[in-house]
Amino acid sequence: MSNIKYTKSERLLQRARKVLAGGVSSEFRKYNHPHALFYAHGKGSRVYDADGNEYLDFTLSQGPLILGHSHPEVVKAVSDYSKDGQLYAGQHLKEIELAEKLHAVIPSAELMRFCLDGSTAIQTAFRVARAKTGRQKFLRFEGHYHGWLDNVSWGNAAPSLSDMGDREHPVANPWSKGLAEGTKHESLLLPWNDLALVEKTVAEKHQEIAAIITEPVMCNNNCIEPAPGFLQGLRDICDQYGIALIFDEVITGFRLGLGGAQEYFGIIPDMSIFAKAFASVIP
Ligand SMILES: Cc1ncc(COP(=O)(O)O)c(C=O)c1O
Repeated sequence: MSNIKYTKSERLLQRARKVLAGGVSSEFRKYNHPHALFYAHGKGSRVYDADGNEYLDFTLSQGPLILGHSHPEVVKAVSDYSKDGQLYAGQHLKEIELAEKLHAVIPSAELMRFCLDGSTAIQTAFRVARAKTGRQKFLRFEGHYHGWLDNVSWGNAAPSLSDMGDREHPVANPWSKGLAEGTKHESLLLPWNDLALVEKTVAEKHQEIAAIITEPVMCNNNCIEPAPGFLQGLRDICDQYGIALIFDEVITGFRLGLGGAQEYFGIIPDMSIFAKAFASVIP
């Protein structure tokens, strides 16, 4: 391992720092080993960096390239459709065909709306839940990631033990500087997989709660499965109090099952967000 060279990546990083904030286009890339790497190409399960080092790509662009790099059918479909035009600021037949396919495989997908990314799709779901219930807050769980926008960026960072607060009231640490302070109060934060605590909190505060949002499997902090009965318990609580249950299937969608975690666990949320592997669905 010690003779691996990263000289070209290092040079590109120095050049990038002059025009890109931190030299990267996503914070997480800063923490690559030994520093942000620059990739030159990829094929199937492999990627190659600027120095020619080959990697088995477990990340697959953090999910979207579920079929591997430059899968021939995906490349052909993108190329074929692009020849006929690109964007219309209007509707296209393909949107209906795609929606019909998703409707057939995702249990909760009665109606859908295509968005630009997972973060905005999640905010759209919150807006629908607020409009429907007339309530303002959403309940979310420690360790789950629902995009980078302000109202979901409290309590994301793994706190130290001394900094965690008590179990019923986890400390909502800001994920970064610059968050709008008021957004902290848009959500209630609880530890995951503790159904009794969710029941207690919702019983006290249900008049404020428009939605409960969860990753159905906690994928963004290790990979933790829901405790037996937890997702069904959330479904029951939401039904009892007229709260929208939102599954964030940005990672689990098309991966745990074609119809996502909701199909795998047999629990149907009111709304769900699919992204990532969606990008390589062969039309
Ligand atoms: C579970 C989950 N929700 C939401 C998001 C945000 O999606 P996007 O990066 O497309 O905004 C991510 C991104 O990794 C995610 O893992």
